Amino acid sequence: MRKKIIAANWKMNKTVSEAVTFLDTFLLELGEEKRVDVVICPPFTALAKVSEVLSDVSNVRLGAQNMHWEKPGAYTGEVSADMLRELFVRYVVLGHSERRSLFGETDAVVNRKTKAALAAVLKPIVCVGETLDERDAGRVESVLSTQLSGSLADLSAKEFEEVIIAYEPVWAIGTGRTASPEQAQAAHAFIRAHLETMAGKAVADKVRIQYGGSVKPANTAELMSQPDIDGALVGGASLEARGFVEIVKHAL
Ligand code: 13P
Repeated sequence: MRKKIIAANWKMNKTVSEAVTFLDTFLLELGEEKRVDVVICPPFTALAKVSEVLSDVSNVRLGAQNMHWEKPGAYTGEVSADMLRELFVRYVVLGHSERRSLFGETDAVVNRKTKAALAAVLKPIVCVGETLDERDAGRVESVLSTQLSGSLADLSAKEFEEVIIAYEPVWAIGTGRTASPEQAQAAHAFIRAHLETMAGKAVADKVRIQYGGSVKPANTAELMSQPDIDGALVGGASLEARGFVEIVKHAL
């Protein structure tokens, strides 16, 4: 049985003080819930403070939204895995569609980052997903295969098991237009089948696949009841503490 994992991707939102205000309410309302893995991915500037607040909280983990693949050095504006590790970051979102479309990240880049994250014992949340044009052209499966094969190339079976995949159809991100549970399940089943071709059935059965794209309290339960949907990566609806607690509770 795969444990559900619900992650908040705050994107470029929340100052340090706004993050603290969120956590005050969120942690109180969440209570001791441990049946779901909960991850908060604030912007880099808030990681240290959120880490401090979470230091005596056992059921919420810290994630980053990106990292560079290189060891520390002359890479202006970048953040290394070691820097994240020191702040007790456990997860890192890689290859988000906004990174791919706005900042030119390719599957090869995502692969380098994934390997560097794994080498640093960070759990990568590797994002894949098709655009609306690609869906309309009947290319969902070929796009997902290419992204998965490229982003997860040359991982050992043991490394594969540490990876979390986030299926985020680009047309559903920030649009209020969620994939239907059937559409999402079909994509997740395809992703799992593709992982099986890459790493074998035993590994593919263990990998958790999150859905992302306009997840909100009202649609969480139905999405999470699908057999191959193992959690959610939540953008907009993760910015409001009570709503995000509701999403976590609906994942049970
Ligand atoms: P929204 O939940 O705002 O659609 O964003 C999804 C997302 O991109 C999470 O990474």
